Amino acid sequence: YGDPSQKIDYVFKVVLIGDSAVGKSQILARFARNEFSLDSKATIGVEFQTRTLVIQHKSVKAQIWDTAGQERYRAVTSAYYRGAVGAMLVYDVTKRQTFDHIPRWLEELRGHADKNIVIILIGNKSDLENQRAVQTDDAKEFAQKEGLFFLETSALESSNVETAFLTVLTEIF
Ligand code: GTP
Ligand code: MG
Repeated sequence: YGDPSQKIDYVFKVVLIGDSAVGKSQILARFARNEFSLDSKATIGVEFQTRTLVIQHKSVKAQIWDTAGQERYRAVTSAYYRGAVGAMLVYDVTKRQTFDHIPRWLEELRGHADKNIVIILIGNKSDLENQRAVQTDDAKEFAQKEGLFFLETSALESSNVETAFLTVLTEIF
C-alpha cells in the first residue's frame, strides 16, 4: 500500500460519482486502506484519499475524490471535477434506479470534466447476486455505446476493486 519515502512520478486525480448508497466510499476504503464497513455513513461534502502504486516502473500517486450522492450534501461541482483525469461512475447492481440515473451522472461529468477524462462504469455489490436488478449485459451494452470501460465490483468481497482502479490509472498513463 505504498512506501511514503518513495519519489512520486505522477499524481492522478480520479473522481467517484453515482447515487447515494451505491458504495462509492467503501470502494475507496477498500482501495486506499483495504478496509470495509457495513455501517458506512453517507458522505457529506468531499473527502479524498491517496494511495501510491507502481505502474510501468513509475510511482503513481492516485488521489481519489469521493463526494455525496445526495444532492443536498454535494460540494461545488466544478471544483470537484477540476483536474480530474479519471472518473468512476458507480451504480448498485441491486438497485435499478441507480443504473437508470447513470446517463444523468455522465452528462454532468461530460459537462464539467476534461474531454479526455478516462471513465469506467462500475456495477458495485456483485456479492448480492440473489438481489440483482441490473443485468451485466445491459450495463456492458450501455458502456460500449458510450465508450466507457465497465466492471462489476464488490467492495465487501474485495472483488475487482483493484482491477477497476488499475484499469483507469493504466489508461490515463
Ligand atoms: P453516499 O456517500 O451517500 O453518496 O453513499 P456511498 O455511495 O458512498 O455509499 P457507501 O460506500 O457509504 O455504502 C452504502 C452502503 O452499502 C453501506 O452500508 C455499505 O456497507 C454498503 N456496501 C458498499 N459496498 C458494498 C458491496 O460491495 N457489497 C455489499 N453487500 N454492500 C456494500
Ligand atoms: Mg459516500
